[in-house]
Amino acid sequence: MLPSAVVVKDLVYAYSNQEPVLQDISFTLEVGDRIALMGPTGSGKSTLLENLIGLKQPQTGKIWINGIPVEPKTLPQVRRHIGFGFQDANDQLFMPTILEDVTFGPRNYGVAPAIAIDKARHLLANFGLEAYANRSAHELSGGQRRLAALAAILALEPAILILDEPTNGLDPSWRRHMAEVLFKLPVEVIVIASHDLHWLGKVTQRALVLSGGRIAIDSDLHPLLQDADTLEVLGLPVDW
Ligand SMILES: Nc1ncnc2c1ncn2[C@@H]1O[C@H](COP(=O)(O)OP(=O)(O)OP(=O)(O)O)[C@@H](O)[C@H]1O
Ligand SMILES: [Mg+2]
Repeated sequence: MLPSAVVVKDLVYAYSNQEPVLQDISFTLEVGDRIALMGPTGSGKSTLLENLIGLKQPQTGKIWINGIPVEPKTLPQVRRHIGFGFQDANDQLFMPTILEDVTFGPRNYGVAPAIAIDKARHLLANFGLEAYANRSAHELSGGQRRLAALAAILALEPAILILDEPTNGLDPSWRRHMAEVLFKLPVEVIVIASHDLHWLGKVTQRALVLSGGRIAIDSDLHPLLQDADTLEVLGLPVDW
């Protein structure tokens, strides 16, 4: 039997000398899951995602990605399974041009330059960035940076896609386009942290909600989105 795509067991995470930000976090994600990671500002979404990819190590508890325990020595292996989009796209884009940003990962994994470049140009074109390929990220708008960062992640064809606030700074038409791209992606699992609840409703179907450092809800997303009272209690009031 194949292992679950993501298993988190009894995770506790605290920043140095502080009260834990995350406690008693346990969940399992299976192939096909599309997860909305929700919770108010500061509830620990980014911290949890950074634990999943081994950027942060929990004080207690354990994480497995496709059966591989996430530990310092397994990180290169774990990261071949995961594409991670930082909350701040600037953390993703560090090469002189965005074309090089998008070819960087595949080139690192031994893909021939011509093939990596061809694929990168296609990805950039899909996000309206073909004319910007030779610009550096800091010459792009915030929304364009966000799209370029997603292109760089998708270039790696990850099995598990984890995105932290991917729609930040995007106009409605690009948000819709991103939803359509994500919807069609042949990935095993998608986890998206976002405050954009309506958009999450289009691309994900299971909600994990962080509240008070714990998983307060692990349920179908769509009934939850209809339940204004529960959302209010969770610190996610419907926009006014
Ligand atoms: N480097 C750090 N050192 C100490 N505390 C931190 C650090 N980074 C985050 N925190 C704290 O950890 C808590 C969780 O932060 P985190 O960024 O995970 O929240 P979030 O749910 O992603 O919030 P947002 O919706 O604003 O992105 C917050 O209280 C935050 O202040
Ligand atoms: Mg965050």
